[in-house]
Amino acid sequence: MRLLDGVVVKKEILADIKQECKSLLKQYGVAPGLAVILVGDNPASQAYVGMKQKACESIGMLSFEHRLAASIAEEELVACIKQLNQDDRVHGILLQLPLPDHLNSDKMLQLIDPKKDVDGFHPENVGRLLVGLPTFKSCTPYGVLKLMEYYHIDPTGKHVVIIGRSNIVGKPLAAMLMQKGDNANATVTVCHSRSQNLAGIASQADILIAAIGKPYFVTPNMVKEGAIVIDVGINRIDDPGSDKGYKLVGDVDYDAILSKVNAITPVPGGVGPLTIAMLMSNTLQSFKNVMKA
Ligand code: GUN
Repeated sequence: MRLLDGVVVKKEILADIKQECKSLLKQYGVAPGLAVILVGDNPASQAYVGMKQKACESIGMLSFEHRLAASIAEEELVACIKQLNQDDRVHGILLQLPLPDHLNSDKMLQLIDPKKDVDGFHPENVGRLLVGLPTFKSCTPYGVLKLMEYYHIDPTGKHVVIIGRSNIVGKPLAAMLMQKGDNANATVTVCHSRSQNLAGIASQADILIAAIGKPYFVTPNMVKEGAIVIDVGINRIDDPGSDKGYKLVGDVDYDAILSKVNAITPVPGGVGPLTIAMLMSNTLQSFKNVMKA
């Protein structure tokens, strides 16, 4: 059994980006800048935003944080996005999701300049991804590809089953894996909450990717002997014995399936760390696009 450790991959990617930021700073006198907008006080989102800021600082990127009250009027958020679109110091804009219920995330995401959409969530960039044009790849699915690449897991011709059809993971990951090209060329099946015979389909997967947001959802009957299992889930569950009162678990019942798998990602420490690394990578790419570097 191979443990697919995401932390080592993240460190390697960030070290490369740090080097490149340093030489670009020398060459152009400016550093790439990432703006993060956080609306409200969702604890998980606050934690993610803090990690993104720290990552920026550690590699020599500028970080612009905009923390807005949960009760903010739509016009204020619109103004914030439009101002960041105009700001030349900002190469990437990330609107942390989910937004409070009174704000329409689709509408807000469409206001972000596609050239600064380092999350790859703007419909223009989603469309570009689907037809195979250069674009910003959404960070979590991109991280899954990088993790597989690092561990020499070639999806070519393999049956990849993705459980989950979200716009953030399932759909873009399916689009990436079905493309022609390196680290792609897979036969992709997407299952979701309405799928019939989900266990039967999942258990045919050479590579099983869980991104459904339900703790311990993937059980041994859903896993083929010798499958590669990638767990994208990050779920908080109560853990009264711990300092924080909760612990993070994936969408996969890790202990129960361990004896069946060829390779598996841990949670935490699997796909999660790659998400931030790919956000930095996309921000660097955006900077290079602007500088024509
Ligand atoms: N919320 C959960 N994952 C993500 C992500 O990748 N980007 C943004 N903007 N919000 C998220």
